[in-house]
Formats: sequence, C-alpha cells, structure tokens
Amino acid sequence: QNELSLRPDTLSQYIGQHNIKSNLDIFIKAAKLREEPLDHCLLYGPPGLGKTTLAHIISNEMDVNLRTASGPSIERPGDLAAILSALQPGDVLFIDEIHRLSRVVEEVLYPAMEDFFLDIVVGKGEEARSIRIDLPPFTLVGATTRVGSLSAPLRDRFGVHLRLEYYDDKSLEEIIKRTAEVFNVEIDDKSTNELSKRSRGTPRIANRLLRRVRDFAQVKGNQSISIDITKHALDLLQVDKEGLDHIDYKIMQCILNNYKGGPVGLDAIAATIGEERITLEDVYEPYLIQKGFIERTPRGRRATAISYDHFEYKKH
Ligand code: ADE
Repeated sequence: QNELSLRPDTLSQYIGQHNIKSNLDIFIKAAKLREEPLDHCLLYGPPGLGKTTLAHIISNEMDVNLRTASGPSIERPGDLAAILSALQPGDVLFIDEIHRLSRVVEEVLYPAMEDFFLDIVVGKGEEARSIRIDLPPFTLVGATTRVGSLSAPLRDRFGVHLRLEYYDDKSLEEIIKRTAEVFNVEIDDKSTNELSKRSRGTPRIANRLLRRVRDFAQVKGNQSISIDITKHALDLLQVDKEGLDHIDYKIMQCILNNYKGGPVGLDAIAATIGEERITLEDVYEPYLIQKGFIERTPRGRRATAISYDHFEYKKH
C-alpha cells in the first residue's frame, strides 16, 4: 500500500525544521500521556514553509479531527461561535492568517482559549443579555506570516510559539526527491540540487518548480528530469541561480536605479513597481534580507554591496 502523499502525515515524515520537530514531539507525547489536548500553538514565518502541513500533522499525531478556517473568513463573532461550538473534545482548530481576525472576533477567542467557554451577547438594547456556552477542550493552532501584527493578548494566549525558518538546500533536496517519488518521475542528483538552490528555501516553491520542470521533460519526450532540462526550464521561468524571480529583480532594480541604492521606504518601492506593500513585506523582502541583498535601516530599505555585484550595477 503506497500511502505517500504530497503532505506528510507524521512528524517523522516531515523534513527539516528540526527544532520545531523535536519540541513538538515532546509536547505531543506529554499531552497524550496526560490525556489532555495539546496547548494552543502559534506557527509563524514566511509563506510556503509548511504551517498548514504542521497543523495537519499535529491533529494526526494527536488522533483528533482537524477543522480549518482563516482570519478573513471569520467576519463576525457569530461565525467563530458557530465554528467553536461544533468542535469535538480534543479537536484541533487551525486558523490561518490569524493576524487578520477583527478585534471583536478576537475577544470571543480569549475566554474560549483560556477556559473553554463562549460569552455571547444575544438581543439588542434593553433585551440584550450575555449567555455562557461551555466548549469542549480543544487546541487552537494559529498561523501567521507576521507575528508582529498579532495583538499582545492573543499572542500571549498561545502556550507554544513555533517559528519556521527557511529550509537549507539539503532539506529541500530531500523534499524534492520525496515529491518526485509521489509524482512517479525520475530526477537525477544534479537536477535535484539545482532545483533546491533556486527554490528560495521554500518547499512550496520547490514543489511548484518541480511540477513545471516535469512538464518540460514530458513534452520533450524525456523519461526523466536531467540537468539540461532543469536549467532550460528554470531560465524560461525566469528563476535565477539564487532563486530570485522577475519581481525580486523589479524590487532590486527599483532600489538601485530609481533610488540610487536607497534608503527608500517600502511604500515608495511598492508604488514604483506596482505591487502591494503587504506582498513585498511578507513574500519578497524576508528572502532578500536573508540573502543579504537588502538591509533595513531606520530610514528605509537599502541595497547592500553584494546586491551591486549580483545585479551587475556600478555603485553611484
Ligand atoms: N512537503 C512540503 N514540505 C515538506 C516537509 N517539510 N517535509 C516533507 N514534505 C514536505
């Protein structure tokens, strides 16, 4: 029986993020020994690193159901009340983009997280009264790309804080090999290595690039993925040797060209290249900073010396 699926089901199948894995392993075992639900967990870090996958693994390892929702989809307190009152004892409720919950919805969450009850106001004006509804004990798993946008009271109600890091090349290679197996496609070590280096530390990108490279291989009638096909495909996809794509190039060219290397504010960059500030902040900037191409200063973003080399610019 080959139950291999793209998303790993257990902690032991989950590749990389060793710190998170060894911590979670202990917390899950301890909760099971006490026959209690796992404490509420907050997962944070750049998109595509496996926050949803971890929520799935937590519910699977705890042997309970996974319910999922996202911050923007829970508009009113009643929406959250409906979700919470449908939970079974021990269930995991995963709320993605939890930083986007409104204040009034957040306030429903506080007593639910702390003491497993809901305090709901029903009726209006003189008829208004508050009723208390008990909830089964549950585990909230919250995910966010921006832990700084979370209100302090909400952040403090999570007993476990887990920060996902960009993956190293070796872990990405393992993930690519695993995915290739799931896709039933052959890939050699050179191609695996090339893909891992161009996936900006992100499994979601590695898997997406692998899909596209597989398309090229298949259309060319090749049985397996070779380094030539990999390089050709990645060049056509405009993914460079460092995994930077055309938006990264637009950002860097904006800083280097239009603003003489900076410092320049993120809003100015966003307006110049026509992207949303949030996208730049959550998706693009963290990797450019991690790679050392941009640095944050009190007066804005600045291009570093190595970015002049990488983007072949002469310093002004
Ligand atoms: N697929 C995507 N992310 C993964 C990970 N961290 N481990 C295993 N497979 C994955």
